[in-house]
Order: sequence, then structure tokens, then C-alpha cells
Amino acid sequence: MTETLHDIAQKMVATGKGILAADESTGTIKKRFDSINTTSTEDSRRDYREMLFRTDEAMHNYISGVILYDETIRQKAQDGTPLVELIKAAGSVPGIKVDAGAKDLAGSPGEKVTEGLDGLRERFAEYHDLGARFAKWRAVIDISRGGDTSMPSHNCIHANAHALARYAALAQERGIVPIVEPEVLMDGDHDIARCEEVTTWALKELYQELYFAGVDLEGTVLKPNMIISGKLCPTQASVAEVAERTVKVLKACVPSAVPGIVFLSGGQSDVDATAHLNAMNAGYDLPWNLSFSYGRALQAAPLAAWGGDNNNWSKAQAAFLHRARMNGLAATGNWTE
Ligand code: 13P
Repeated sequence: MTETLHDIAQKMVATGKGILAADESTGTIKKRFDSINTTSTEDSRRDYREMLFRTDEAMHNYISGVILYDETIRQKAQDGTPLVELIKAAGSVPGIKVDAGAKDLAGSPGEKVTEGLDGLRERFAEYHDLGARFAKWRAVIDISRGGDTSMPSHNCIHANAHALARYAALAQERGIVPIVEPEVLMDGDHDIARCEEVTTWALKELYQELYFAGVDLEGTVLKPNMIISGKLCPTQASVAEVAERTVKVLKACVPSAVPGIVFLSGGQSDVDATAHLNAMNAGYDLPWNLSFSYGRALQAAPLAAWGGDNNNWSKAQAAFLHRARMNGLAATGNWTE
């Protein structure tokens, strides 16, 4: 029997599990490898990701889906098994990043719009054949610095929400669950109230555009930022305040038809990302499953432990398992420091 969009979405947000974002573009993974003095090659990228996907206990117990990059969805493990098959064998759903990145938005200096809609229908058909059952598209919304409120502009919020809706409709047409990701960046010196205001705006606009595009919300997953103080803000909100404001915004903006919400980590420390997620699940009654779709907060520790040397696989796998387990506990509000 073929799985419906609703079945796939439910599997992605299964209780106590979350998503591993391993979809760094070639440019981004190079930066990550630079930080451990490792050359980024097709083989080193494959070896590193194979190490993650072969962490059986983490994958089976805590990782419901993996977001891949175009290169990775086509790669084979060292023994010739397609990486996609390793993910499926662990009971996890393979997914694919399909956006072509954030480009300068004409008419709005300093702001970005995510591109990649051209030819997307055909690309979805190919990715489906390659095994992808969900996809990701990330919009980037920056908040201006120094108390200036010119960014984001309505043009930026609207153009990005519209592109997300067009992407989501195309994904569903091919039987692929769209993760919609409108990321309000934590870079900058804005306070948590400004993050709340901008995120509310971005989410309101997003759900309006998804409605206009006829997207079936039960076959989608939202990947938002948490409501958090800007990295350079002199006052950093507590874990309790982040949880309270994030839940308040999500309840005000996200219909309960959405099966699950999986946060990005966005530059938070590993432990902050876990603590914030745990506080929301432990303290609030929520209409959706609330979990993680972390990139850096899951990978920083295993990346450092691997250090570019495949002899360190078991150390790196232990580090990945630890973070996956901690976030799995946070997804049910059972994590303790
Ligand atoms: P981070 O958790 O590192 O923010 O990455 C998640 C992601 O997929 C961003 O698009």
C-alpha cells in the first residue's frame, strides 16, 4: 500500500523522535570541515555522513527522518549500499533539501528570498524515484540591528511565504511531505520581544499563503525558529521565557491540523537547544507533537569527535547517540541536565 502524505507526516513526528538535518550544501559542509581541519571531498563528505547514518541505536530510537543534500541522496556507502537504504533500514524516512538557497531580494536591499521553484516539479519526480518522501525549503528572515525596524520588510515576509507555499503545493502533488521552514535568524542585537513580533508576522503570512495555495496542512511539517533573544542582545532570556513565548506564538499562529513542529537549532548551543525543547514539552499542553530538526545541535559533537579520521567512527557515533538521546528525551519533556 502506498503511504499517504498524512502517514508520512505522522511518521516524521513520531513521539520521542526528531529529524536529523544533514542537508548542508557543499559550501556549508566545507565550512564545517574547515573547523576540524579536514578537506571536504566527495569521499570525506560521504564517510562522515555514513558514520552518522550507521549509528544504529540513534537512528532506530531517536531519528524519524534525515534531510539529505542532492549529492548525498545519490551516494553509496563504502560497501556499495545506497545511503538512502541505510536510512530506510533504520526505520527512518529519507528527505531532501530542494531550495536553491537565499538570494538578494530585488527592491529590498539587505534582504533575501529563497529561490529554486524553476523545474521543481520535475526535480520532485526524480527525488521521489530516489526514495525521498519529504522535502525541506528554508526561507531566511533577518532582523535589522540597532533598534532599526526596517527589516524585515513586508516584501521579504510576503515573497518568502509565497515561495514556501508554491514549493509545498508542488511537493504534495508528487506525494512528498513539505517541511516549511521560515527561519527568523537569531543573528543580531534584537531582544526576544522583537523576535516574537517578527516570527508571529512570518507565521501568519505563511499559513495564509499555504491556504491560498490549497496546501493540505495535515500533510505538512513546520520547522520554525524558537522565540529567542538575538545572539548579540545584552539581555538573554531564560529557558522558561523562551519556552513560554515560543508556545504562545505557535498557539496563536499554527493550526492544530498541522501534525508536528520540529525546531531548527539556528546557532543555539547543543544544551540550550535541548533545554528549550524540553521546557516546552514538560510545561505545556500542546495540540501538535513538538520536536527537533537540528543540524548543528546534533552534529557539532560527532563532527568534532570524528575530526576527519575514520578511525574515530565509534567515538563520533557515541557523541551522536548522546545528543540524539537527549533530544529524544526533550521531545517528551523527560530530559534532565
Ligand atoms: P540548524 O539546526 O543548524 O539551524 O540547521 C537546521 C536546518 O536544517 C536549517 O535549515
